[in-house]
Amino acid sequence: MKKEPKLVAIDLFCGVGGITHGFVREKIQVVAGIDNDPTCKYSYEHNNKSSFICDDIANVSSGRIKKLYKDAGADIKILIGCAPCQPYSSLNPKRVQYKKKHTAWEPLEHFIRIIEEVKPQIVSMENVKELSDEKKYPIFKRFLACLTENGYSYAYEVVDTSTYGVPQKRKRLVLLASRMGEISLISPTHKDPAKMKTVRDAIGDLQPILDGEVFAKDRLHQSSKLSKLNKSRIKATPKNGGSAKDWPEHLVLDCHKLDSGKTYMATVYGRMRWDEPSPTITTNCLTLGTGRFGHPTQDRAISLREAALLQSFPKNYDFIGKEKISKTILSRHIGNAVPVRLAQVIAQSIKLHVNQYAE
Ligand SMILES: C[S@@+](CC[C@H](N)C(=O)[O-])C[C@H]1O[C@@H](n2cnc3c(N)ncnc32)[C@H](O)[C@@H]1O
Repeated sequence: MKKEPKLVAIDLFCGVGGITHGFVREKIQVVAGIDNDPTCKYSYEHNNKSSFICDDIANVSSGRIKKLYKDAGADIKILIGCAPCQPYSSLNPKRVQYKKKHTAWEPLEHFIRIIEEVKPQIVSMENVKELSDEKKYPIFKRFLACLTENGYSYAYEVVDTSTYGVPQKRKRLVLLASRMGEISLISPTHKDPAKMKTVRDAIGDLQPILDGEVFAKDRLHQSSKLSKLNKSRIKATPKNGGSAKDWPEHLVLDCHKLDSGKTYMATVYGRMRWDEPSPTITTNCLTLGTGRFGHPTQDRAISLREAALLQSFPKNYDFIGKEKISKTILSRHIGNAVPVRLAQVIAQSIKLHVNQYAE
């Protein structure tokens, strides 16, 4: 019988392991993740049984990457990476400053360097949709040129994660490249709005909690304490999709009274809707005033566990361990992650491709 080729992945900018976990669930070994944030180590290793290499990508030599593949006995080397997105994200008002700062592009430059020097058979890159604008972001053009010069076929597209079974609307750029032949992402699995996973599917059965409360059986199920004013605001926001537009005058923020602030009233401080996917989960998702992050019916913003479930992490993904870790760090970990379900779809696309082309 023909021997199955061994697929081994390395996850650059691995964070707490959103991408890695999707691959692990699809039974692709992820031998190591690399990230310069030591606070990600616990979650990454504990939930994935992969090694966390805490280092700046600039210090990671191609020799080290090659050795990791070799020691794992890789037949098909897969390099996956979701470089930091803040320089490109439309949700980040500081991106203009980033655009001017040369160092902001460095992580992606090193991704390119590692591809050129290691030449893995398969590369997967995920990022915010804005990066696909080659005119605004020449770094993306360089990334594509590097793939062509090194013999890769590639395909990329901006996908809405809700069309792939993530209970969240999140537009992401997904690129797949291969030296084995043409490769692309599988077709959307949940395109019909009636079949999309919803907020109710993801968080509907969690224990109700108050704002500021930590649920004893799961410390991740904790939400931010609201000020007296914000508590009045969420109470005045109609259940299941209401927004600041419905507030009495005395609760409205001064900046929302200006013409320029009116559009924000439809989103910030709003409540999610039970029977739709959630809005994009960001690193600020614990704060009512930074998006539609209100619980559909309880008078609070979503909890960290709810954010993780909307990012399609499984219920038992452990983000905390024994060390003390702040809510701000945890919401950064969760908001920055690639939804696990999207990573599974990427892994499935790679497996399909390998089955088609491997000799
Ligand atoms: C968008 S997040 C990645 C999320 C991760 N792939 C996941 O699915 O959970 C980007 C990550 O890049 C890391 N990072 C930023 N600059 C880096 C650098 N110079 N070297 C290594 N990691 C870096 C950040 O710490 C962050 O965890």
